[in-house]
Amino acid sequence: MSEKAYYVTTPIYYVTAAPHIGSAYTTVAGDVLTRWHAQRGERKWYLTGTDEHGEKVMRSAQAQGMTPKEWTDKLVEEAWKPAWVDVDIAYDDFIRTTEQRHTERVREFWQTLYDKGDVYKGEYEGLYCVGCEEFKLPADIRTDEDGTQRCMIHGTELETVSETNYFFRLSAYADKLLALYEEQPTFVAPSSARNEVIAFVKQGLQDLSITRSTFDWGIPVPWDEDHVLYVWIDALLNYVTAAGYGTDPERFEELWPVDVHLVGKDILRFHAVIWPAMLMAAGVAVPKQVFAHGWLLVGGEKMSKSKLTAIAPHEITDHFGSDAFRYYFLRTIQFGSDGSFSWEHLSAVYTSELANGLGNLASRIAAMVGKYFDGALPEPADHGPAEQALADKLAQTVATADKALDTLAFHDALAAINELVGAVNGYVTEQEPWKVAKDETRRDRLATILYSAAEVLRAVAVLHNPTMPKSAAKLWTLLGAEEKLGALSDQRIQDTATWGQLPPGTTLTKGDPLFPRLEEA
Ligand code: ME8
Ligand code: MG
Repeated sequence: MSEKAYYVTTPIYYVTAAPHIGSAYTTVAGDVLTRWHAQRGERKWYLTGTDEHGEKVMRSAQAQGMTPKEWTDKLVEEAWKPAWVDVDIAYDDFIRTTEQRHTERVREFWQTLYDKGDVYKGEYEGLYCVGCEEFKLPADIRTDEDGTQRCMIHGTELETVSETNYFFRLSAYADKLLALYEEQPTFVAPSSARNEVIAFVKQGLQDLSITRSTFDWGIPVPWDEDHVLYVWIDALLNYVTAAGYGTDPERFEELWPVDVHLVGKDILRFHAVIWPAMLMAAGVAVPKQVFAHGWLLVGGEKMSKSKLTAIAPHEITDHFGSDAFRYYFLRTIQFGSDGSFSWEHLSAVYTSELANGLGNLASRIAAMVGKYFDGALPEPADHGPAEQALADKLAQTVATADKALDTLAFHDALAAINELVGAVNGYVTEQEPWKVAKDETRRDRLATILYSAAEVLRAVAVLHNPTMPKSAAKLWTLLGAEEKLGALSDQRIQDTATWGQLPPGTTLTKGDPLFPRLEEA
């Protein structure tokens, strides 16, 4: 049996429309996280997919005059999978809840809980938000002056639903969940999310209605075919059905328990309360962590598929490229907090940190090695205090970035790498290699300066490979590193700070700019 893989998931998104940058934000974060672990030499497994049952998807298909299956087939192939190409996602599996590998296991799972007595029949009346696919509790309802009751997330009018349903005994799990949050303190992260979940569970839990009978777009309830399973208790199971639960025990052992479920804070309770209770009921290990990030806001409001504020990822990547997309959102928003998107801010960060920062530094170094040493990286002569300061800064950056990734603090990791690039720029400005080059007796000094700058760029290529794989590959080529050091993907984070890896004599080539200036783009 192979070793446990580092397993990360995104939410499976509702296929009601094409993806927007909010869905891409989570998916990029998971991609960077798993690529980082791969760069450490670990085996990674990254799962994403689509949530295709329920009223919300059914209604969006009806609005198009299609069946839900036709509509979701079309959107998955023509919009979702292409969007993940646009932002350069290397997922290992893509699950759709309409696939048999999922539906069959879901039926078995709930049949088992039914047989154990964790499910009972009852009556339910409540206010339902189709946008959230959720019965709303009083604390989550906003009431207008005229008495209209609305969802606090979607602002839409809630619908009264009154049905005979089956219920899962969620209330019986409150104490076990509180014990879980104590024993596994990073089960919910960041701590603001943890506190919110604990406060919620401490108020006591109601049993959960897990079936619907007024429409039929869902997985039929195995013991009563007049009902379909509630979309959430179908969807959550994707994380185990995709991992071989119930079919492939060996594979399941390699993947489960999942290392991180990445979610937006809108769906935190489903993942941190209902999901572990379902797993406990079935005797399956709970996840290691549920991490809730914040919302991308446009004009102060959560970007959503149902609003006109939705921006498609390609609108950004067409102009700035996928690497800039990936860098920008993780660099500028503290992971866990909300962040506002604006084109002006994106352009400013792109220009200062990528085009003028890293990109310009790389092309200047390649150009000077070309001009003064015919493109062959010179052998460094002395290693003075300025060089040692760079090497120290590099070591500190690698340590900071690697540690930041353990807590999903992408923003801290990228800030540290950006600072390192700044330090090299400062070094070059201070050392003035173009002046040293005018003095024939100082060839050794010139060699040391250019070598040292190139050596840090070697490390920057490795550190940026998870976040900006395309630009990192270009930088690797610019440095001529592949021939002696091997593939960029084979470089290890833990070895990155070791000084002097780039072999003298390798050929540096200026090539196209890593990040074209915006007016040229
Ligand atoms: O909730 N900012 O699907 P969904 C940041 N199918 N992230 C955002 C965002 C925004 N403005 N908008 C969406 C569902 N997201 C269920 C999930 S999982 C078993 C089932 C991201 O299409 C964020 O990750 O509404 C959020 O939690 C998710 O998309 C919701 O996607
Ligand atoms: Mg949503």
